[in-house]
Amino acid sequence: MFFLTTAIDYTNGSPHIGHAYEKVLADVIARYHRLAGEEVYFLTGVDQHGQKVQQTAEKEGVSPAEYVATVTARFSSLWEKIGVEYDGWAETVDPRHKTCVSAILTDLHARDQIYKKSYKGFYSVRQEQFLTDRDRNEAGEFGAEWGEVTEIEEENYYFKLSEHTPWLRDFLEKSDDTILPAFRKAELVNALEKNTGADLCISRPKDRLTWGIALPFDDDFVTYVWFDALINYISFIGYSPDPTLPEFESIWTNRPVHIIGKDILVPAHGIYWLAMLHAIGFTDEKMPQLLVHGWWNRSGEKMSKSLGNIVDPMELADTFGVDALRYYLVRDIHTGKDSNFDVERLVMLFNTELANELGNLCNRALNMSVRYTEGVISPGGPLTPDDTALQQSLIDNTAAYRKAMDNHEVSMALEAINRHVVHCNQYVDRLKPWELNKNLESKGRLATVLHHLAESVAHCAVLLSPVLPDAAAKLADQVKLPKLTELKLEDLKWGLIPDGHEIVKPSPVFPRIEIKAEE
Ligand code: ME8
Ligand code: MG
Repeated sequence: MFFLTTAIDYTNGSPHIGHAYEKVLADVIARYHRLAGEEVYFLTGVDQHGQKVQQTAEKEGVSPAEYVATVTARFSSLWEKIGVEYDGWAETVDPRHKTCVSAILTDLHARDQIYKKSYKGFYSVRQEQFLTDRDRNEAGEFGAEWGEVTEIEEENYYFKLSEHTPWLRDFLEKSDDTILPAFRKAELVNALEKNTGADLCISRPKDRLTWGIALPFDDDFVTYVWFDALINYISFIGYSPDPTLPEFESIWTNRPVHIIGKDILVPAHGIYWLAMLHAIGFTDEKMPQLLVHGWWNRSGEKMSKSLGNIVDPMELADTFGVDALRYYLVRDIHTGKDSNFDVERLVMLFNTELANELGNLCNRALNMSVRYTEGVISPGGPLTPDDTALQQSLIDNTAAYRKAMDNHEVSMALEAINRHVVHCNQYVDRLKPWELNKNLESKGRLATVLHHLAESVAHCAVLLSPVLPDAAAKLADQVKLPKLTELKLEDLKWGLIPDGHEIVKPSPVFPRIEIKAEE
């Protein structure tokens, strides 16, 4: 089983393109692994507890439960709209999740992995957080932005993180494929070097925060939101400390892939989660791989509500179409790196690579078949170097596509498809089927050329299907092979289009996006 998860999105605001990117990336990877013949389980969802949610709900004058229900619906309807298809849906208010978190806490507490201690420090009432010396200004004081700052002593529960960090250092040193892409590993290793002996505070007193999962061994506290949220990766697939259920065993079979953004590698996933799993009893062979993606920025700045530059993915999908949005989100970024979100590039990439290249190839190739051979596709005469070069381009680019997708590099995989499409369009320009159609003696040659084009369209439809499943189905429809979308990668051999196969006049799958000039 290939078990794939994403971060669960905070329900303290509306979904933005960063959220949409991560879910589309995961959806593409899940669909690709299905295409490769694997069994896949894709889990995503929402993170509904914590201080931020409690505060926002208060501000809006509704209960936290009502508030998260409203925001959760915005996320799930976005996923439905843009074709993100998951097998499991995680909502942390779900009783199933709460039961699992409680059971894990009970177990860790019973095994002395959790203890209570008192902490004395400066506390900002306005920000509801403890401050450190780093929060002091140049004059050595806590500035006005913190509001009233008081020194308080508070008891909390701590998880013995420090007992697991030696194992974690050792594990990361041995393992080259836990943090993907590899250049992100150094950051985590550095953070671990600095983290000596610190344990993890996993509770919040109820007089400060009530919107959370109560500690099973002390009802005056709720669980710290990260400790709660991380457990979603196992609670929603049936984990329980004792006994472990068959559902869990059948999904978490080896190393799952957790897709997360770069901001939540250190410390949340890279330190807390791996240490938690180790404490729970997961072996090295079962540790997740963390696929860390970069950020979509706007004009080089981080997106945030305060910058007022959030681009609403729902609006983008309505305006430009789901295909254009999905394509752009995985096309104009390298997995692991940041990119700049630019609506003009979204339109440009759709119009050039999909409308002008692939769409055009499909239209002209199939239209010529309808006009010149009554829609009948047949292999025709002997092959020329042009034909073998086209077949070689398909072989090479399919291999490049697979290699890229195996490395979760969707953008590079799409480049490989484009290279083949460009090759095909040049083949048309060079071999001029409209000229071949003029003479009876070149009809065999014409058949071969049109066959090579139709065959290429069929292959491209399959390769494109993880990214644009609906468009791929339409392309399959254009070549009149509805079963095309049921093919697996290993079925992608020359000869998808049977001899004598008949197609009908195509209609455009990628109509150009025309931007009306602003009035
Ligand atoms: O961090 N570009 O939730 P979240 C790309 N609830 N990715 C982005 C992004 C951007 N501009 N902004 C956010 C949380 N993300 C926690 C996760 S997991 C147990 C709990 C990514 O809503 C971010 O990196 O702030 C994260 O992976 C995901 O969106 C959800 O972010
Ligand atoms: Mg965040």
